[in-house]
Amino acid sequence: MSARFFLSLCLITLLASGTWAQPSGALLIKAGAILDVRTGKMLTNQQILVEGGIIKAIGPALKLPDGGLELDWSSYTILPGLMDCHTHISGQSDGNYYDRFRKTLADMAILAPVYAKRTLEAGFTTIRDMGSTGFLDVALRNAINEGKLQGPRILAATYYIGSTGSHGDMVGFSPWLTFKFPEEMTGVSDGVDGVRKKVRYLVKNGADVIKFGASAGVLSEEESVGAPQYTQEEMNAIVSEAHMWGKRVGAHAHGTEAIKMAVRAGVNSIEHGSLIDDEGIAMMIKSGTYLVADVYNDDYILAEFSRLGFPQKIIDKERLVGQTQRQNFQKAVKAGVKVAFGTDAGVYPHGDNGKQFAHMVKWGMTPLQAIQAATINAADLLGLSDKAGAVEVGKYADLIAVFGNPLTKIDLLEANPNFVMKGGALVHP
Ligand code: ARG
Repeated sequence: MSARFFLSLCLITLLASGTWAQPSGALLIKAGAILDVRTGKMLTNQQILVEGGIIKAIGPALKLPDGGLELDWSSYTILPGLMDCHTHISGQSDGNYYDRFRKTLADMAILAPVYAKRTLEAGFTTIRDMGSTGFLDVALRNAINEGKLQGPRILAATYYIGSTGSHGDMVGFSPWLTFKFPEEMTGVSDGVDGVRKKVRYLVKNGADVIKFGASAGVLSEEESVGAPQYTQEEMNAIVSEAHMWGKRVGAHAHGTEAIKMAVRAGVNSIEHGSLIDDEGIAMMIKSGTYLVADVYNDDYILAEFSRLGFPQKIIDKERLVGQTQRQNFQKAVKAGVKVAFGTDAGVYPHGDNGKQFAHMVKWGMTPLQAIQAATINAADLLGLSDKAGAVEVGKYADLIAVFGNPLTKIDLLEANPNFVMKGGALVHP
């Protein structure tokens, strides 16, 4: 590390500490190479000028404005900050299955900023949080946006909207056992009027995006993993209501029929998509619906969840869908379904998000396609194409720098990048 570079690093770190707001001065980053995520071209001999947290210029010989700082990343490949379109930032399944009944909202609120920081340090500068309790994701998003905490940009779904007895409810317990949630503090709702009201309530309280359960799930105790859990009318109502408020919708859907129902309802993304068939694939291509498939999860669940005391029924459900989901993901990729990167982080430890890249490549994508899923495609799904997802003039200076070429070695993205910048502030190391 050159003395000049070290000095710059210290200054940037100082600038970035205190509050996590973006630095005021200009930055000139000397790039080893910049990956153009649209074409896969490696642009060499480039510099990036950052001002006010935004990329102002990219070119071979830029001038650093007076008082600006230079960053020497000439040994590294620069990529846009990564995006994970499916996280659960308020929790993590690293304790015991029954921890969920022992923890309070305060326990979760204490740990959520830690998870957010780990996610950011792993190179994920934007996340779409697909279900958190107690509006924790909204609070976290706001604190990060106000520069009080360090973390990724967050699009918050708040509560998972699910029917009574669904994946989003508490299932598998004695009916004598009652959980005293005020109605407003769960996503459980039924009927066309009920789900419309729930969407309105979540939007009123800060939801950026709406998530609902179209089908049963794995990590819950319903018998089925894929049966539909809302009627077509209820799904239509959720989607039309959310769209009326200008919010996009992601549907949790493992089951073959539930996927089709959700696509018919007009969702923007299918989450998991495990048991999709050829007709479902054709429907998604026709409607341009994104697939967000958590193809790393199965490894972690089968390795850890028995030890964590999860009921055998849940482990069996995972065995039922895990490999099929990957084979179907491969089919969908081959057919040309649009894919955005999303991992279900929180099921596995936050910060390990990048482990999914190698799986996406193993199951049919080129390394460039996997990177596009986490950059331009994710930005498109999230409605952020004009602001993020590529190293381009006018976009946020959300950048990561890695040592080597991820197009030939995708698992480079598994470890924390050498540098992570968000909005022009160096946030890692
Ligand atoms: N949250 C999802 C569920 O419980 C996780 C599914 C994990 N398994 C998988 N093969 N993707 O349904």
